[in-house]
Amino acid sequence: MSFLSDAEIVITALEKYYQESISRQKPVIHQAPLETLASDLDLDTHINEGRLSGERLAQFLGKYLESTTRLLHPAYLAHQVGTSHYAGALASLIDGFTNNPMAIYEMGPGAASIEWTLINWLLAKVGWQPQPLKGASHTDQIFGGGVLTHGGSLANLTALLAARGQVAPDAWQEGSPGDLVILTPAESHYSIARAAGIMGLGRTAVRSMAVNDCGVVVPEKLPDTYARLKAEGKTVMAVVANGCSTAAGLYDPIRKMGEFCNAQQVWFHIDGAHGASALLSDQHKERLDGVELADSLIWDAHKLLRTPSLCTAVLVKDHRTIDRAFQQEASYIFHDKDQPGFDFIHRTVECTKAGLGLKWFFVLSALGEQGLAKHVDDQYERARQAYDYIEAQPEFSCAVAPQSNILCFRIDGSDALQMEVRGKLIAQGDFYLSTTEFGGRRYLRLVFNHPDTSLDDIKRLIQRIRDLVN
Ligand SMILES: Cc1ncc(COP(=O)(O)O)c(C=O)c1O
Repeated sequence: MSFLSDAEIVITALEKYYQESISRQKPVIHQAPLETLASDLDLDTHINEGRLSGERLAQFLGKYLESTTRLLHPAYLAHQVGTSHYAGALASLIDGFTNNPMAIYEMGPGAASIEWTLINWLLAKVGWQPQPLKGASHTDQIFGGGVLTHGGSLANLTALLAARGQVAPDAWQEGSPGDLVILTPAESHYSIARAAGIMGLGRTAVRSMAVNDCGVVVPEKLPDTYARLKAEGKTVMAVVANGCSTAAGLYDPIRKMGEFCNAQQVWFHIDGAHGASALLSDQHKERLDGVELADSLIWDAHKLLRTPSLCTAVLVKDHRTIDRAFQQEASYIFHDKDQPGFDFIHRTVECTKAGLGLKWFFVLSALGEQGLAKHVDDQYERARQAYDYIEAQPEFSCAVAPQSNILCFRIDGSDALQMEVRGKLIAQGDFYLSTTEFGGRRYLRLVFNHPDTSLDDIKRLIQRIRDLVN
């Protein structure tokens, strides 16, 4: 076994995989049954015999790559996972190789410095005060803070724990008080309800705000909802805005919601897992106008920013809130120490935490801030072009004009027909898209992420759907 020769096998296979994907030579999706794959990949043999190296590695990898769903294929239009840039993939390799669990500084000073710097870069984009480079751990000065987590779901939980710590400081010790509720749009991602479950608040503590026909919050109705909850004896732990929503990619009116929350001194959380990347774009950042009024924001790099999964930032306006979110003692890690850097461990669920920032940093440094901003602009523009084209086709319609890179559309016919179309497209393997419910009806759903997806791909898709139903 040799690292260099095996690495060469892997890199050569990945380059071939990339070329086959980008040129559309291979299907974007092809799902063999699990039992067939487990046998074709010789999984039991490899586990029993070991020695996955050299020619055996080459053969295995060839079969494995054939079994993947190709997110590098320009007809990948399904879920909100980005087209990763190779620079981010190289960073994943470096992180796996060096294996520095950097939540405590002494276990990964370089990775911790990158995370610190990235968090500050993001705080500045939001309009919050970056963390000072020195003397940050034990001061009461107000500045922002944050941490990178493995994904938006964990990030929402982390932000909501910070919110709970603010309104119910004893909750960590005593458990959640029974009167806490979280106010969200019904369209919020399910990780918000999961966080409520995990925190022991219960599903019934997740209350819906009034929304319009598109599921977007109507801020004028927020005061009434809030007053009603107060009259019920409830304490609103957090108000959550979508920035943007999962299903249709629509942004809630952040400034108006933020002004209300600030006036009531209620924690305002923005779930920007998908849509916060618009903050990089001069053209689209106004979608998040008022973002600085929030108390917390989450932001996924693995959705719109070409970073390999998973990599999410949890950001807070006041670092003390996230510093208090997990009040847990573990004397072998949490102790006062003189050290040259910063420990992130008290801000995160994870104990052994990968150097996630390296992936984001590599992509950012490869493309530059302008390059990433352009990527966001291009994807938003592509959704807009697809909308114009699809709306002009007599038997097709869109749910709503896109505000991001997500577009929902349907062909005339029943909800079952939309599902049938998707099933057939997936079986053919040339296009991969998802479906969603919107306004009580089933839609086909496109998420634009690949730099090479063009309007011609969408024209071919629409023609293919016509052929399938006729
Ligand atoms: C708005 C929103 N929040 C949170 C999440 C969860 O993020 P992750 O998949 O990174 O856990 C998603 C995922 O689609 C999302 O769209």
